[in-house]
Amino acid sequence: MSKQKHKTASTNLFPKNFMWGASTASHQVEGNTYNQWTVWELQHARELANTANERLSWIPGWERFRDKAEDPENYLSGVGIKHYELYKNDFEIAEKLNLNSFRFGIEWSRIEPEEGVWNVEALRHYEDYINELAVRGIEPVLNLWHWTMPVWFTDKGGFSKRSNIMYFERFVKKLCDELPLEKVRYIITLNEPNVYASFGYATGEWPPNEKKWWKFMRVYYNLTIAHKRCYRLLKKRYPHMQVGVASQLANIQAKRPQNFLDNLAVRWMRYFWNWWFLNRIKRYQDYVGFNYYFTDYYRFGSLREMIKGKFFYRDNPHAPTNDLGWYMEPEGLHALIIRVWAHYKKPMLITENGLADSSDEHRRWWIEETIIAMERALSEGVELRGYFHWSLLDNFEWAYGWWPKFGLVDVDRKTMKRTVRPSAKFYADQIDRNS
Ligand code: BGC
Repeated sequence: MSKQKHKTASTNLFPKNFMWGASTASHQVEGNTYNQWTVWELQHARELANTANERLSWIPGWERFRDKAEDPENYLSGVGIKHYELYKNDFEIAEKLNLNSFRFGIEWSRIEPEEGVWNVEALRHYEDYINELAVRGIEPVLNLWHWTMPVWFTDKGGFSKRSNIMYFERFVKKLCDELPLEKVRYIITLNEPNVYASFGYATGEWPPNEKKWWKFMRVYYNLTIAHKRCYRLLKKRYPHMQVGVASQLANIQAKRPQNFLDNLAVRWMRYFWNWWFLNRIKRYQDYVGFNYYFTDYYRFGSLREMIKGKFFYRDNPHAPTNDLGWYMEPEGLHALIIRVWAHYKKPMLITENGLADSSDEHRRWWIEETIIAMERALSEGVELRGYFHWSLLDNFEWAYGWWPKFGLVDVDRKTMKRTVRPSAKFYADQIDRNS
């Protein structure tokens, strides 16, 4: 009988300075933000609540969430989880969980609430925030854009107009002038441009609810320009800074591995979803940052399906799924890391990874498989520098609202009490073992 009780990462392949962290995003945790998402939430809360059952009843175990999802309050970010005020307390929790790094966002709409008007208090807040992380020995990983923008900027057309990019650049310059960025080694300019452009401009589910392919392409392209300009700007000011993006990459596979057409669909989807953006900024990134949530299996349509316009589609196993009904294959991370490495040969950061799991039933398993996947990849010689679990705390999950729970730490929004979930303790132990 094997002496090993269960699969835990044990051979120490993780580099000494490996970044073990967790991620957050300003709008999802801070509270009292005022940006284009806040406005959208207020306009759509009722409709989202009224249509919740119709849209989401396919989710296994839906009855557990239905009441919450049918309450309009669920769709308002409101006071958030008061991370803006309670950040020191939250860093203390991060420290207790052995995290040596932390990914967070700066809310542009706070810093520049009106065009060209800078909020000094907000700037001081983020200065204290970065200093506080540094004092605690937690490496700050700063994300400049996580989909939310000042209302004046989106009123001008946001990133759909190339001439607007200069406003984003000006914001980044301001941060360079005002914040102790010499303490920040890693910067993420943009979070998931592919997701933002798709949901905002192609499927039309998110603000600004447009469904125009040409606009989608324009926004997506303009975001490559925005990134490149910020890259140059930041590197000029801080040559040693490591600058990259947090792209959403999926482990895309053929449903029928030997099927030529399924493999054709895979090639196209990998190019369109995973590589298009990263190829464009190839020479403007010091590391490849990516968020991993999905392994997706693609199948080419039958003749009948093609006549109906369904050329190829996702056909995933039905189990196991998380609270949002997303198929879970944490071990798919290994294949993805290897593929990213083969493409770019650059150091990598897993900038987000996690699951909605309110009863904390699967999270420990997910973390365990994830660590093993990273370990396997490291054993093959890739340069993986860090892992950031999504998320440290339960937070506002965009158009789904508050009911999905992604946190290592549970948050009671009435009392704002934080409670560490058992899986978080497991993560903390794993960090300890592997450090
Ligand atoms: C986003 C997060 C989001 C998470 C879970 C990522 O795509 O960057 O903001 O909460 O996925 O859906």
